[in-house]
Amino acid sequence: MSDEKTRILFVDDEPNILQGLKRMLRSMRNEWELEFSSDPKEAITWLDKEPCDVVVSDMRMPGIDGCSLLEHVKDNHPHIIRIILSGYSDQELAMRSTNIAHQFLSKPSNLEGIKGAVERSIKLKSYINNDALSEIVAEVSQLPTPPSLYNKVTSMLSNENCALEDLGTVIKTDPSMTSKILKLVNSSFFGNSSDISSVDEALAVLGINTIKTLILTVSIFSGEDRTQKEEAKLDALLEHCALTSNLCEALAGHLKQPRKEIETASITGLLHDIGKIIFETQVPKDYHEIVQKSLDAQIPLFEAEYEALQTSHAEMGAYLIGLWGLPNNIVEPIAFHHSPKNCSVQEINGLTILHFANVAASKLKPNDLLGVEQDYDLEYLKSAGLSEEDIKTWEALCQETFEESLNQQTAS
Ligand SMILES: [Fe+2]
Ligand SMILES: [Fe+2]
Repeated sequence: MSDEKTRILFVDDEPNILQGLKRMLRSMRNEWELEFSSDPKEAITWLDKEPCDVVVSDMRMPGIDGCSLLEHVKDNHPHIIRIILSGYSDQELAMRSTNIAHQFLSKPSNLEGIKGAVERSIKLKSYINNDALSEIVAEVSQLPTPPSLYNKVTSMLSNENCALEDLGTVIKTDPSMTSKILKLVNSSFFGNSSDISSVDEALAVLGINTIKTLILTVSIFSGEDRTQKEEAKLDALLEHCALTSNLCEALAGHLKQPRKEIETASITGLLHDIGKIIFETQVPKDYHEIVQKSLDAQIPLFEAEYEALQTSHAEMGAYLIGLWGLPNNIVEPIAFHHSPKNCSVQEINGLTILHFANVAASKLKPNDLLGVEQDYDLEYLKSAGLSEEDIKTWEALCQETFEESLNQQTAS
């Protein structure tokens, strides 16, 4: 993207709204090249011949609505970032777009909201210096959930007395469902504008009726049957993510972090390898070869990914959840979990916890289906402020947490 201006197209059938946006965004004209269209048909013709980075569309328009417009963009120009700008009265309609739009903004919009969403999406793209791969990420609308978990959630929701707490307990075990719920609640449209990185809080903000519509009617989750091999890989990955999440939680607790940060650490652990799910679902054949290469050459999987694709699952996952509007304190540790030295901040923080927990989880529960894991980056851990003594304490705590989780599994 370098020095070129970001090109953004705004589509809204009401001329007054477009005028308002034009006025509001005037101060951005040195950084952005803005196009406005009051006719979705004309917008499609323009998009088919002009380069564009971001489309911000109204939902309710005559003829072609925002959903159909963004569907066209997704199918024909997958690299373009898709944002819905919608009035609250269009909530039913906007729900239809939850699998198509990357972000949702509510009307009336303010400069900060639009600026924040666009700048963030553009900045995140720089995580992946490969247009083909960023297109793959932008195309993702759903990630797979094991059918057993998916069925559990839908049957819970069909029960009239479904408790949000019980629902949260199931959703929290699955990276795909968790990331989707956080995507929705962190949009100004469905939730509020403050960062939410807890599933329980997300469910409380969305409310049971919205959740029912999103899951049962709009099908925001995908629980299709897969081949036995695919299922085994997804299970192995989920097991690794769950253990990493437990270890992150234990380490954050050991550091006496506040409750909210402990929850964030736990979510970061659960979502850290979501990039692997993207690879497995979008380019399964290529990814299988990369995992095999990691095993044959005994090199860490992320290095094999770099060799083949010049990026890794860490950046891919961070790009997706960032594009979906998840808070930066989750996105950043995920982006750097295999190369923590590349992060400019060197202190004991969420990244230190995630890097440590991920390696510890692989040592405690190795699985060939997941390729070879790296070792601790001791140089980084030291520069972040961990002494050798601390490292031993952290390792012992991880071991203890792992054993406790095993005991709990046998008891249940
Ligand atoms: Fe990873
Ligand atoms: Fe991992």
